[in-house]
Amino acid sequence: MPAKIIGLGRAVPDPVLTNRDLEQRIDTSDEWIRTRTGISERHVAPEGVDNSDLVADASRRAIEDAGLTADQIDVLIVATATPDTVFPSTACWAQPKIGLREIPVFDISAACSGFLYGYALAASLIDSGRARHVLVCGAEVLSRVLDWNDRSTCVLFGDGAGAAVIGPGAEGDGLLAHTWGADGRLAELLYQPAGGTRKPASHETVDERLHSVHMQGNEVFKHAVRTMSQASLSVLEQAGVRAEEVDLFIPHQANIRIMKAAADRAGIPMDRCYLVIQRYGNVSAASIPMALADARAEGRLEPGMTVLSAAFGAGFTWAAAVYRL
Ligand code: UT7
Repeated sequence: MPAKIIGLGRAVPDPVLTNRDLEQRIDTSDEWIRTRTGISERHVAPEGVDNSDLVADASRRAIEDAGLTADQIDVLIVATATPDTVFPSTACWAQPKIGLREIPVFDISAACSGFLYGYALAASLIDSGRARHVLVCGAEVLSRVLDWNDRSTCVLFGDGAGAAVIGPGAEGDGLLAHTWGADGRLAELLYQPAGGTRKPASHETVDERLHSVHMQGNEVFKHAVRTMSQASLSVLEQAGVRAEEVDLFIPHQANIRIMKAAADRAGIPMDRCYLVIQRYGNVSAASIPMALADARAEGRLEPGMTVLSAAFGAGFTWAAAVYRL
């Protein structure tokens, strides 16, 4: 029984930070941000709102959308690069907030590819009979790990969560093909240098601003386009689905130019590519499930449609999937 997304939910903190707001704080412009990235605004979690709160809100909505109750969830997987704490997992903090039973809950760290990594894990758990309903949530509070004086990174990211309940589907439904990979030799092109055990927090790490996102944007851009398009072509071939049969392309949303290049190389026109980057910025692991929830709410995603998703993120990690909802 193929693993199918049977419920979706998304959550964003209320406060919105527009490009115009950023113009008041740093040397940037709405025009630069929109033309170089496609972003117009992003949500920023206020103090007191934790990643696990966003996980809980999105998850409760996904469970309700699936027509289930919290006690019917067998496993919770949270994909995040911005956990509440290094340990325990954000999933543990979120578990009582969602009202789940004493089921296994854990985080996975695959940056922007995290939701698609989680979908593959959920499918394996369902295929093997170890679980019937797996809740996979991509959630980020990236605003807390940004250097707000670094214009090359702080304009790019946002906060939010998207959750999917994955359960057994009928023949021809659900996950048709999946691919994933990583190349840790490129880890230093995009990472948060301090705060782990290699460089624990100290006055020096704070003074040197090592607790924020460090990125070599141009290099990341090139790898993202190449990897997302290769993974897309490979997963389409594996599924036996032609590009023209893809009803909707929902890629990870890091930059409109990356998405256009990846769509072009995969042979998918932009009118079949669903975009949310303009309103959320790059929300890393949350971008695909948030986009899925919005696409469905807007009537762009209907039952039986064939969806292609591809993601690329820090690590580097990547993944792609062809699936039917
Ligand atoms: O989620 C996956 C991980 N992240 C990504 O996939 C991000 C991948 N990279 C990118 O999206 C792009 O590389 C960026 C959006 C980060 C940068 O765009 P770019 O076209 O590669 O710009 P650039 O870094 O080559 O910078 C061009 C210019 C520079 O000025 P000079 O040296 O040409 O005078 C920058 O200083 O733009 C300047 N610049 C800015 N100007 C206004 C950089 N950031 C800004 C800014 N506002 N916010």
